[in-house]
Amino acid sequence: MDFSNSFTFTASVVLLLSLISVKLFTSKLSQNRRRNKYHPVAGTFVNQLLNFNRLHDYMTDLAAKYRTYRLLTPFRNEIYTSEPANVEYMLKTNFENYGKGHYNHSLLSGLLGDGIFTVDGDKWRQQRKVSSYEFSTKVLRDFSSVVFRKNVARLAKIVSQAADSNQTMDMQDLFMKSTLDSIFKVAFGVELDSMCGSNAEGKEFAAAFDDSSALTLYRYVDIFWKIKRFLNIGSEAALKKNVKVVDDFVYKLINNKIEKLSDSKDDSAMKKEDILSRFLQVTDTNPTYLRDIILNFIIAGKDTTATSLAWFIYMLCKHPDVQEKVAAEVKEATKSAEAEDIAEFATNLREEALEKMHYLHAAITETLRLYPAVPVDAKECLSDDTLPDGFSVRKGDMIAYQPYAMGRMKFIWGDDAEEYRPERWLDENGMFQSESPFKFTAFQAGPRICLGREFAYRQMKIFSAVLLRCFVFKLSDENRTVTYRTMINLHIDEGLHVRALHRCRT
Ligand code: HEM
Repeated sequence: MDFSNSFTFTASVVLLLSLISVKLFTSKLSQNRRRNKYHPVAGTFVNQLLNFNRLHDYMTDLAAKYRTYRLLTPFRNEIYTSEPANVEYMLKTNFENYGKGHYNHSLLSGLLGDGIFTVDGDKWRQQRKVSSYEFSTKVLRDFSSVVFRKNVARLAKIVSQAADSNQTMDMQDLFMKSTLDSIFKVAFGVELDSMCGSNAEGKEFAAAFDDSSALTLYRYVDIFWKIKRFLNIGSEAALKKNVKVVDDFVYKLINNKIEKLSDSKDDSAMKKEDILSRFLQVTDTNPTYLRDIILNFIIAGKDTTATSLAWFIYMLCKHPDVQEKVAAEVKEATKSAEAEDIAEFATNLREEALEKMHYLHAAITETLRLYPAVPVDAKECLSDDTLPDGFSVRKGDMIAYQPYAMGRMKFIWGDDAEEYRPERWLDENGMFQSESPFKFTAFQAGPRICLGREFAYRQMKIFSAVLLRCFVFKLSDENRTVTYRTMINLHIDEGLHVRALHRCRT
């Protein structure tokens, strides 16, 4: 047998077959290209930069025109959708194909590690399972309600002093401190007291935590962050320093708790109401794993609830008739006496009374429709796909649903979409009626729907009920334009400055 001839023949066949496959592949690809249609291009990242200060409104205008559109950027394809069918598809029907991806993980993990916000797949599933169980337990519900009542009483005392002296105050800042204290106590069982600043270590932690969040966010716009991290300079050096402060504080708390739990001879003698103690009972005691879980809860539960409460008070100042209706409902549901002490009123606020407050629930929900704490939420497409509207998306594309824009779409909410009208959430008997989570997307939807939704509503209702039973709020300057600051959460730019008047003497 002539091996050289045989080799030449085999090589020729392989080459020919390769050429045929390449030809078939490329012609299929170009056919696909021709067959696939992509969402219309509505602008580029330059338009986003030019409109940065009113970014969400700029994207709302585009959504009103296109429902789903693309923005061209130098690094990747970006798709923004307000179409509920697409939202349902990416968040539920084909959920596995739209995740956090490597990109988000690489940016967020410096602060958030492998916590629930940064991971996909089995790592996410495992944390979701344990956390969902814990969040549904009566122990955690009861403990968190006690914490909310105590903290709103402290907040109300500060508001009362400001009312006595006719001083203005920044309610957003006060809500930030109070929600941090609440989630911290529920997470670790420890008083942080950022409201009064009595705990020096706690104060340092709170500042380092806020700075770390802001510096993590900065990575999304800083293309040099990896080089800076490598050289340990600038924003990355600052991030590293702040994360160390956060870690030192958190690890100390975790190790203390582990020690206490192992020291306590009588297992039932130690109260295990906080999230950390609960997790220590059901998962392993790896401090890094616990740190990641708990820090993710703190970041999830702090700014979201505080900014929502601030926008809610803003809406009530703009709509005094709604403010009066909420106050009347709280009075009626609690059957409270005019002269009741604030702390006493807060302590006596029962779950049954909160459940009767349908109008309050509707007024908070209506606020979240127009001012969702997470205005845009992006996912990474993990493999080529076609959305229900018939347009294609490709592996690696970023695709975002837009709660802020969706809340303002006439095709979803009708012609009065931009009006603040809590009644739209009530049926003819005044009972709250929920909407499809693929239209009202403030809490996301599908398997990754916000895990703290019930927790957040309970906190917002307790805070609102106490504050609105006791005070009337007015904007300190009716002429000032109140708008948002463009960042991950929808903060009120430069805070919410109000004046409070006593509604009932306490
Ligand atoms: C008004 C208040 C809140 C709003 C509007 C809100 C909204 C959201 C949104 C939009 C997401 C999806 C984010 C993503 O893409 O990863 C989310 C996820 C989550 N939220 Fe909330 N949230 C609120 C309060 C809370 C609170 C108080 C907690 C806990 C104490 C919490 C815990 C979580 C967790 C753990 C996740 C991740 C769920 C997962 O990936 O499986 N949230 N929330």
